[in-house]
Amino acid sequence: MSASDSDRARREELSTLRDTLSRPLPELDARYFYDDRGSALFEQITELEEYYQTRAEHSILADRGEEIMRDAAAVSLVELGSGAGRKIRLLLDAWSQRDDGGRCVMLDVNESFLAASVRTLGERYPRCAFEGVVGDFSKDLRRVLAPSPCMTVFFAGTVGNLYPDARRAFFATLAASMRPSDSFLVGVDLVKDRARLERAYNDDAGVTADFNKNALRVVNQRFGADFDEGAFEHRAFYDDERQWIEMRLRATRASVASIPEIEWRRRFAVGDEIRTEISCKFTRRSLERALAGAGLLVRAWHADREGLFALAHCWKRA
Ligand code: SAH
Ligand code: AVI
Repeated sequence: MSASDSDRARREELSTLRDTLSRPLPELDARYFYDDRGSALFEQITELEEYYQTRAEHSILADRGEEIMRDAAAVSLVELGSGAGRKIRLLLDAWSQRDDGGRCVMLDVNESFLAASVRTLGERYPRCAFEGVVGDFSKDLRRVLAPSPCMTVFFAGTVGNLYPDARRAFFATLAASMRPSDSFLVGVDLVKDRARLERAYNDDAGVTADFNKNALRVVNQRFGADFDEGAFEHRAFYDDERQWIEMRLRATRASVASIPEIEWRRRFAVGDEIRTEISCKFTRRSLERALAGAGLLVRAWHADREGLFALAHCWKRA
């Protein structure tokens, strides 16, 4: 990215931050969880007994990885929101028979996690060419170029962290960039009973609470904000009408927060909240409908044995 592009991107980001923090229910984008501390906390979350998603998705990849790679017939892979880059290994193992080794591009907002995963994967799979792109999957899909047939993978249910409008735009941009033999493999957490869902976001050890509060630390460090990090507590609940988990930070004492660079200032009274994340849950039907809106068709549906999580493998409708 050139210096003027990155200046423009920062101005846009600040303007969005000002808008979202000025809403009646102020919001922070979920990507602000993920500095190095937040990404490490997410890795801890994936090991919690309450957080079944990672184990469920891992079990699907272990059972169906070969079938998925056969169906994809890909010469390249793109992983969005790749994090520590662990799950992709289950696909790379199934793919390593390729004569020319293949090509794998990973995109994430966390530069150091990305660099570490590209390095580790490069050592483990020397015949595959890895590339890391630091970027935002809602804005930078066009910067990711990989030869066709390409399979783009989006694990963890991270697509569920996009608000419905942003998700529609994301699917549309992705579909527009896909060629006829490219495919998209997307992981989604499935609708299930409220207690199970809420437990996954309210773990006993308080790791999710620390992860949630980390968003304030990141915004303080990155944008010179002065949120009183100790003045907020974690809250997560399931909204069964919208079929999403919502994470918020609730003020436990009065405070004032400001970001001088964008002339934003807000008083928080006890009980005031900031929405930090939604995590949408899907049924096969609701996901198929959302994908169909962008002309994407689910050709294979892979769920774990307990029906907790699914990977949908899609192509562009002919
Ligand atoms: N794929 C990994 C990590 C999932 S956590 C897994 O399955 O375990 C979500 C990941 O998405 C994090 O690595 C985070 O840094 C990244 N991320 C969050 N918002 C992003 C955005 N807007 N653009 C790019 N990456 C993002
Ligand atoms: C990355 N993403 C799919 C996680 C989720 O479950 O929505 C982030 C997370 N939030 C709280 N715990 C984990």
